[in-house]
Order: sequence, then structure tokens, then C-alpha cells
Amino acid sequence: MAVVLKEPSRTFNEYLLIPGYSSAEDRPENVSLKTPVTKFRKGEEPAISMNIPLCSAVMQAVSDDKMAVALAKEGGIAFIYGSQSIESQAAMVRRAKRHKAGFVPSDSNLRPDQTLADVIALKKETGHSTIAITDDGTSEGKILGIVTSKDYRVSRMDPSTPINEFMTPFDKMVYGKEGISLSEANDIIWDNKVNQLPIIDDNQRLTSFVFRKDYEEHKDNPNELLDSHKRYIVGAGINTRDYKERVPALIEAGVDILTIDSSEGYSEWQSLTLDWIRENYGDSVKVGAGNVVDEEGFRFLADAGADFVKVGIGGGSICITREQKGIGRGQASAVIDVAEARDRYFKETGVYVPICSDGGTVYDYHMTLALAMGADFIMLGRYFARFDEAPSAKLMVNGNYVKEYWGEGSARARNWQRYDLGGDAKLKFEEGVDSYVPYAGSLHDNVALSLSKVKSTMCNCGALSIPELQKKAKLTLVSAVSIVEGGAHDVILKEHSNHI
Ligand code: IMP
Repeated sequence: MAVVLKEPSRTFNEYLLIPGYSSAEDRPENVSLKTPVTKFRKGEEPAISMNIPLCSAVMQAVSDDKMAVALAKEGGIAFIYGSQSIESQAAMVRRAKRHKAGFVPSDSNLRPDQTLADVIALKKETGHSTIAITDDGTSEGKILGIVTSKDYRVSRMDPSTPINEFMTPFDKMVYGKEGISLSEANDIIWDNKVNQLPIIDDNQRLTSFVFRKDYEEHKDNPNELLDSHKRYIVGAGINTRDYKERVPALIEAGVDILTIDSSEGYSEWQSLTLDWIRENYGDSVKVGAGNVVDEEGFRFLADAGADFVKVGIGGGSICITREQKGIGRGQASAVIDVAEARDRYFKETGVYVPICSDGGTVYDYHMTLALAMGADFIMLGRYFARFDEAPSAKLMVNGNYVKEYWGEGSARARNWQRYDLGGDAKLKFEEGVDSYVPYAGSLHDNVALSLSKVKSTMCNCGALSIPELQKKAKLTLVSAVSIVEGGAHDVILKEHSNHI
């Protein structure tokens, strides 16, 4: 006879937090959202923590190198998607690791034999007025000069004028040498009254630019997540098929943390992958595993050596796994169950294996609920897909801006490795959809707003840290009828408001 759980499986929407006593100290500015990402022994510090409890989903529509930089700036981690070739994923990791706050790769480059017409066309295309003139016209070529709008007058010059006749040549340029700090670069900018500073290496090759206009921006990222060389922390997804080639390439590219991206983690494929990583790299490579939804799955992965365990099956906004295969569990029940399992495991073994709630986070308060239920951090797809920094296209549909968002199990992504059960390597049926999400603007502004709500609720519960919230939180189930009471009701709304 099959085991039938007595309790129904529940979603975040079915819970609310009951406020606890808050002291005068319980103010949002006193709240720390620092949270462990990798396992640690009692009394020790985890090798990797995040300064905010958010990471972005291992998805084509969500996590590339741009997202990795944007999220690390805020204190979280992006897991760059693995459903692409090993070379292109490693290149994304490399680009994100090379990105130094304030030092940006040159995106507008021409050769000296090109013309004023080329300058005007490039400026129109990129919107940038600083153009590096390199021997081969690339962003890493030998720099021979620079063109800014001060160097030419369109109304007085022939468009066929070669660039080398009007550029500021190298011997008259102000530049910085690779290795200088951002504050040294800014000092040179201020002392020489220039708007940009090219940074070059010992062979006069261009490596990046520092711009005066970015000065303020780089002063106010107090949560930036950096490695010991002051580079952003970057994650990447792997699968249980080509890990023997993919993992070494990602490590070579500088990745800090990996996660096995799979719709179903309670499987021998995952332990084989973890075994191979441990045999070849010991504990030096950090790798999460998942997804699971109960204690058995958690223990299996914790014993197999996972650094963290991802929780959630079928709850993703683009996910149709439950409809297609009839497997999964309400996200709230899964998180509560696995969090209890993690705590028991900690008591028994002295090893704390952080858990990540993955999928199904819709409202900002769901983040707080997931943390209160025991999640150490949260992985989000739909949430991040709405922002400028997500790789997908921004479109106008029916008068509204939207971004494209598609599941890894959709025909569009064709990420069969994620749904792999061995045998023939193909996606036989879809487990995800292709969709639009409302465009929401910049990641920085949205994350700041969402987390201000999280901090505010934590203060209402008398908690100044995530572990304190987990200890003090009091949760209640809501009845179907009381959900109506929770929204605006019995009033005539003046405008449609979007609470996401
Ligand atoms: P969301 O934040 O609710 O949009 O959920 C994102 C999560 O859904 C991801 O982190 C994955 O765990 C999961 N996911 C991604 N693509 C698919 C799919 O095609 N089918 C089912 N689940 C998916």
C-alpha cells in the first residue's frame, strides 16, 4: 500500500506571519540579511555566504554574465545557465569574473583608418560618445588614440575624414595602467579634468575604461559580494551528463560555486556527479544539488556531499511538471519539511547544510515566508526575468512593456539534461512554457524595494537576522475565505494596482 501523507501540500499563499514583540531596536536599518550558502560545521563559518538571501535561477531567460554582475553588486549570486555549450557558459563566467566594479570593457571601438562616418554610425548604434581607437578595432587591441565628441565637428568636417586625422593620439592621451585601484583611477580623472580613463596593460593593449559618470554609482553598493581578489562571486549550473568536461572548464574560468540543475534531485545521477567532483577536487569546489521536496531527498543529497540543497518541484511560474507528470509538492510544505530535516541533520552530524527555496515565489512577502519557514536563501526566475539585466528581449505587447520568460523544460530552451532520466538524450515532452512577464525596470531598484518589505516584516516579528526570524516566526494557515479579507475589498479601486 502506498504511503499517503495525511496533510495536504500547501503553498506560500496559504500562510501568514503573526507579528511578535518588536523592541525599539527592531528597525529595518538594523536588520542583517546575511545568510550561509555552503555547508559548515558547528562553530565554523561557511566558505560562502550572501549578503542578501536571493539568487537567480539557472535559466536562459534569467542568468547570464550581466545578471551575475548586477546581482553580485547587490549581495546575491546568479547561477549562469548551463543549457548552452561549455565554451559559451565558461566565457560568460570569465566575463563576469573579469568585470571589476567601475572598470568596464570598451563597447565602442574602431580602427584609425576608419572614418568620421563610422564614428557617427557607431555613436548612433551604442549611444556612447567615447570611442577607443585600436590597431584591430577590438576592445582588447593596442590602443592608438581616443575619439570623444570634443574631437570633431560634424557640420565642418567631411564624413570621409580618416579617424587618425582628428583622434586624440596615444601620446596626448591620459590613461591608467592595469592594476590601479578604482580610487586611483578616479583621482587621475579628477586631476586631469577628463571624463574617461582608458586602462592599458604593459603592451599598450586596452583592458577597460573608468568613467567619471560612474563615480557615484560605485560608492553605494555596500552589500557587494566579492571574492578575496575583489572580483564578483559568480555561480553556474551544471548537469549530470557532461560534468567531467563542464566542471573543469567552469573552474578554469573562475566560477565560485556550482549547482546541479535538475528537476528531480533524489537520484543516483546526482550522487555520481557529486562523487566525481569530490574525487577530483575534494571540498575545494562548492556545489549545490537538488531539487528535492522531503526529508529523504534532503538526506540523500546531504550524505552525498552537497554543499547546499535546493527545494521545490513543480512550483515554478513557467512549470507544468505537476500537470504533465503528477509529481511535486506545494512549495511551503516542501520548505517546512526539508528545513526540519536540515535541523535534525545538523543536530545529529554537526554539519549545517543550507537549503534554498526554488520556484513559486510570487509576492515579496513570499520571500519572508520562505525564510521564516526555514529556507536559508531563495532562488527566483520570474522575479529576475522582469528586470533590465535579464538577457531576454523587452517587447511592447498590447501597449505594455514585457520581457520574455521561458522554462528550461520548454521546447524553446530544450534543456533535456535538466529532465534526464538516462537512456536516450532528448526532451520527449515539455515540462515548461514560453511566456511574457511584465517589465519592471532595474534590478537595483526592485531588489531594494522587495528587501525593504522583508526587513520591515522581520522587525514586526522582532527579528534582526534570518536565523532569529526562523527561531521567532509564528505562522498561521489562512482559510480560503480569509484570503479575500487580506486584499483590498469592499471598496471601488481607483486604479489597477500591481502588488508584485
Ligand atoms: P519561478 O521563480 O517561479 O519563475 O521559478 C523558477 C524555477 O522554476 C527555476 O529555478 C527552476 O527550478 C524551475 N524551472 C525552470 N524551468 C522550468 C521548466 O521548464 N519546468 C519546470 N520548472 C522549471
